[in-house]
Amino acid sequence: MSVVVLGIETSCDETSAAVVVDGCVIRSNVIASQVEIHGKYGGVVPEVASRRHLEVVNLIVAEALEQAGVGFSDLNAIAVTYGPGLAGSLLVGLMAAKAMAFARGIPLIGVNHLEAHIYANFLVRPHLPFPQLCLVVSGGHTDLFYITHHGHYRLLGRTRDDAAGEAFDKVARVMSLGYPGGPLIERQARDGNPDAIAFPRAYLEEGTYDFSFSGLKTAVLNYLERARRKGQEVSIPDVSASFQKAVTDVLVDKVMAAAEVYRPSGIMLAGGVAANTALREALGARARAGGYGLTVPPLALCTDNAAMVACVGYYKYLRGNLAGPELNVVAAQGLGCS
Ligand code: KG4
Ligand code: ZN
Repeated sequence: MSVVVLGIETSCDETSAAVVVDGCVIRSNVIASQVEIHGKYGGVVPEVASRRHLEVVNLIVAEALEQAGVGFSDLNAIAVTYGPGLAGSLLVGLMAAKAMAFARGIPLIGVNHLEAHIYANFLVRPHLPFPQLCLVVSGGHTDLFYITHHGHYRLLGRTRDDAAGEAFDKVARVMSLGYPGGPLIERQARDGNPDAIAFPRAYLEEGTYDFSFSGLKTAVLNYLERARRKGQEVSIPDVSASFQKAVTDVLVDKVMAAAEVYRPSGIMLAGGVAANTALREALGARARAGGYGLTVPPLALCTDNAAMVACVGYYKYLRGNLAGPELNVVAAQGLGCS
């Protein structure tokens, strides 16, 4: 008998619902992006995001069920993101999921958003061997996990200040490229020289797998400001390529340093910044050279979507890890312990 899970994701500015069978067959994955709404403000405006989720969540769920050709009576579980993320946004998805689960007597499963990003990999490659090393790089997190088996995470390192995606977004904003910054910087970087400007790389103290990107962000701001004061012309493609290289160098070096110590069966990349081609290629090359396979979700599954939430839901359903009616949102929650 197959297990049919409806996933719901509203942690930030994407309203998404998906139907996934047996944790790996995506029957539907509907995503309503608010990027145009928030683009005018240069970043996500939390209250605007919650209100938009509220307007569309039921429609998105209905569309996901219709595309999948299933009804509520076919569902084994409803999996919903309950954190980390914007509290107001999370509340909308969680309340919608609770209402449906309660009204139809369907088991409810709470899903951690970081775990969902990691599981975008198991969604496409369900038989990945453990242990895996996984770098989660998103707008809110830069976390390096050692994963021994399903649902068991050891946090090896994390950012001490800005997340990698946040650094992309902030640097893009000061260059007036728009929001979200990651894909826009990546586009500019294609025409730039990654060695044009020597931006700093923060490796921190010996042996740590923690990250820091605020110094790099400040270095880019200072570079732009200095050029402006001197009336010098700035090459946006060169700044973008040099900044992107500084971020990817540190990410790749730290993952590979951890791989040498932990000797995983494979390496995974996850989160919105995993959509970055330069990062995918650089980590892919270094992982191959070290004898490790690298798994990266397809581009569309790197950024926020509900199929990855439903995938986590499947594995939690198999373990009987269901949520009670008291499930609440947890805006700031990590995954695993160090
Ligand atoms: O995982 P995600 O969709 O949302 C969070 O959970 O945060 O990640 C969004 C982040 C944004 O900071 C965005 O700029 C970044 O991922 N991003 C990228 C790329 N596509 C999205 N960063 C670099 N290169 C990209 N191609
Ligand atoms: Zn995300």
